[in-house]
Amino acid sequence: MPATPDTGTTAWWRTAAIYQIYLRSFADGDGDGVGDLAGLRSRLPYLRRLGVDALWLTPWYVSPMADAGYDVADYRDIDPVFGDLDQATAFLAEAHAHGLRVIIDLVPNHCSDRHPWFQAALADPAAPERDRFWFQPGRGEHGELPPNDWQGYFGGPAWTRTSHGDWYLHMFTPEQPDLNWESPAVRAEFEDILRFWFDLGVDGMRIDVAHGLTKKPGLPDVGPEPDPTDLPYQDTDGVHEIYRAWRRISDSYDGERVFVGEVWLPTPEQYIRYLRPDELHSAFNFDFLCGAFTAPALRKVIDETLAVHRTVDAPPTWVLSNHDTIRHVTRYGREDTTFSVSDRRHGAPSDPDLGLRRARAAALLTFALPGGVYVYQGDELGLPEVEDIPVDQLQDPTWPRSGFTDRGRDGCRVPLPWSADSPPFGFSADGAAQPWLPQPAGWKALTVEAQSADPDSTLSLYRAALALRRRFAALPGELVWLDADGLSAAEGVVAFRRGDLTCVVNLSARPVALPPGDLLLASGPIEDGRLPADTCAWLVGVTDN
Ligand code: GLC
Repeated sequence: MPATPDTGTTAWWRTAAIYQIYLRSFADGDGDGVGDLAGLRSRLPYLRRLGVDALWLTPWYVSPMADAGYDVADYRDIDPVFGDLDQATAFLAEAHAHGLRVIIDLVPNHCSDRHPWFQAALADPAAPERDRFWFQPGRGEHGELPPNDWQGYFGGPAWTRTSHGDWYLHMFTPEQPDLNWESPAVRAEFEDILRFWFDLGVDGMRIDVAHGLTKKPGLPDVGPEPDPTDLPYQDTDGVHEIYRAWRRISDSYDGERVFVGEVWLPTPEQYIRYLRPDELHSAFNFDFLCGAFTAPALRKVIDETLAVHRTVDAPPTWVLSNHDTIRHVTRYGREDTTFSVSDRRHGAPSDPDLGLRRARAAALLTFALPGGVYVYQGDELGLPEVEDIPVDQLQDPTWPRSGFTDRGRDGCRVPLPWSADSPPFGFSADGAAQPWLPQPAGWKALTVEAQSADPDSTLSLYRAALALRRRFAALPGELVWLDADGLSAAEGVVAFRRGDLTCVVNLSARPVALPPGDLLLASGPIEDGRLPADTCAWLVGVTDN
């Protein structure tokens, strides 16, 4: 049994800084141009030095990679492109020895079309495996029309016809058939998969598409004017019983094993039900990620987040970017700083300097808020979205599935720049295969090596902030807004206190006077005691308004 981190068995997940490893783009240890476990293991000292508490790894299982590993063919083994089970076990022990917990990605909504169950179901219409998927007769005189009007998340119909004439459901690509959670075999299998990884020593599971596992009975049409709060393929009541069963399993292990849900839903009322005390421990705060980077919008989403999480005593989380979004350096440099998965606005004009200034301010803001925080690999380097990957090199299935209208998510998945003046920037050893996505030549100024040597770099800011955060993370959750003159949201400022920490973000166009206190850290230069626009400062030492 691998050693557990020396952080004890307290509820570490309530305040953790969790770093998202997009494995195929983090570090390549074997020179094939794709990141892997060997590369990750060699970079564990970097992660420890960065000051995060835990790692979340995107899927590492055996996969044909139709959706970068979110199409799993074997849930109990590692894809050879990433390594093998022995390396995964060694990695867990090494991460723990560095004081880092490890969360892996569980993909229960669908598997790969190469999964043995789906292969058996496709081969024989009488196979018992059929009930584990959604096979349905088509509509129309000869069954030539899909069984209902559902569209997949990546575009196109959510159904594909089989050689037997019937259809199967896939809310993502045709290579990702949806599992049928009404099947007891599916439930038993995933409970066993959970135990397999918990036994191996993982500290938690991120649950992919957590809102989508169960479907409304009868698979009714969505209709011409769908109600986004009542869709037949998401947030149906049956999903909660699954998580209650899983919670009983995680609770039966020592060491505070946790679930974090990818819960994308339109209302906080729907979302928060997943975080009731006997369900998931936490979830990603996509309302915060998607919102505008303005003082009134931030204040509103922070207030709503704190209020809704308080109702179930779950920790809020703060997330700025992940492997499915436009990187926030680019979003925040745009005129409209909001984000929507249905319209990524690729190529919208973005001011890179403004975006980076705001991204640095946003980091300090999120690190000062109560709860857990996520850092997506490359956030700490201030990486922008790569918007000019040649279309013949795009890998994301979103591109073909959208009829070549949405470039998809490759621009936030470009391999990290570690060192040197030219690609592969230390991502792979010199002389290795080209990285699986091309890196911009301009990233030579953004490498870990270049930024480590610069005390004003974004990497240095993250290191300083995460080290200080350890002091503040465990502060009581109460956040007190500072509404003194010049510090209100109406004036473009977000300012609050937690214990003796004061956090001020200036999103107005003019400099504002800093409130009292000793300056601890700022996301940009302070001019004559005044906080410039798009800058955040942390101060200590004053405990009353
Ligand atoms: C989640 C993942 C995304 C993946 C999809 C299908 O949204 O984050 O990357 O494509 O699920 O598994």
